[in-house]
Amino acid sequence: EKDLFVLGIETSCDETAAAIIKNGTEIVSNVVASQIESHKRFGGVVPELASRHHVEQITIVIEEALQKANVTFQDIDAIAVTEGPGLVGALLVGVNAAKALAFAQQIPLVGVHHIAGHIYANRLERELKFPLLALVVSGGHTELVLMKDHAQFEVIGETRDDAAGEAYDKVARTLNLPYPGGPQIDRLAHEGVPNIDLPRAWLEEDSYDFSFSGLKSAVINTMHNAAQRGETIKPEDLAASFQASVVEVLVGKTVKAAKEYNVKEVLVAGGVAANKGLRTALEAAFEKLPEVELHIPPIHLCTDNAAMIAACGTVLFQQGKRSELNLNAYPGLDL
Ligand code: KG4
Ligand code: ZN
Repeated sequence: EKDLFVLGIETSCDETAAAIIKNGTEIVSNVVASQIESHKRFGGVVPELASRHHVEQITIVIEEALQKANVTFQDIDAIAVTEGPGLVGALLVGVNAAKALAFAQQIPLVGVHHIAGHIYANRLERELKFPLLALVVSGGHTELVLMKDHAQFEVIGETRDDAAGEAYDKVARTLNLPYPGGPQIDRLAHEGVPNIDLPRAWLEEDSYDFSFSGLKSAVINTMHNAAQRGETIKPEDLAASFQASVVEVLVGKTVKAAKEYNVKEVLVAGGVAANKGLRTALEAAFEKLPEVELHIPPIHLCTDNAAMIAACGTVLFQQGKRSELNLNAYPGLDL
């Protein structure tokens, strides 16, 4: 049978990305242009700036993805693009580039949910085994997603306030660490001791929801109170204590859900999956649960990229999903 090539395009936040995936699983090219350096001096992603950078980069990145894969538009069977959720002005750049190419080259267009993409990053490593549970932890999302089959997503728990990555970034800001704060806190945490008492937001007994804003406030209050008393708290210890709280709740709820839903495997997805403390704690927890396989993608597939969008788009395309040329960007799209 003829090979299936899908071009993926991702512009939901601060990475302009394009990738070519063969038969849904094989990365032929994967190009990511990061804007982190330009957002750094503002301490976070500036939406207007992100859109402008996407406009400058998008055609260059797509061209590079085609060149590196050594293919032309004639070889592309479908164009998969992130349609949401994300920053609307950022999403629109990718969506409009995809629409223009689909129209000009007469190639089918498939809109992809950003979080579905994060989950499908795992399929670039190995075939998925259903039922599976995905822990999605990114800058914008914290969700436990149950999948009984391809492209069937059931959100069994989600954050009620801040996303895990958002909490990391905000805590990092109060510690005067540069954006993005997640990796900085992760690094500091390993130099400190988790000796500061911080809350764990377990919520109701039977809930798989998360909440991180209380923890974030507790960290800020701890710093202020110490400063008022003229005491100094080691940032390493605060980072270690914060990370311990986040990781304990994420791992605890993931293990509980994996048991309750009798899943074959647990997948981790999103930027916070790069966290060393989380990876280690998950590995330790699932070592004691050998009937459930734990898979965490390599870090470059955890953070935003277009390979994951093309991987998910391939499955949707094979299932017959087509988006029209009036496709829009949906900043609050549900999974
Ligand atoms: O998935 P992603 O690249 O973009 C979104 O879709 O949001 O995730 C970015 C988030 C940021 O909040 C960043 O601080 C966090 O992932 N992050 C980390 C680590 N690496 C990235 N958080 C904790 N520890 C890390 N090592
Ligand atoms: Zn993401």
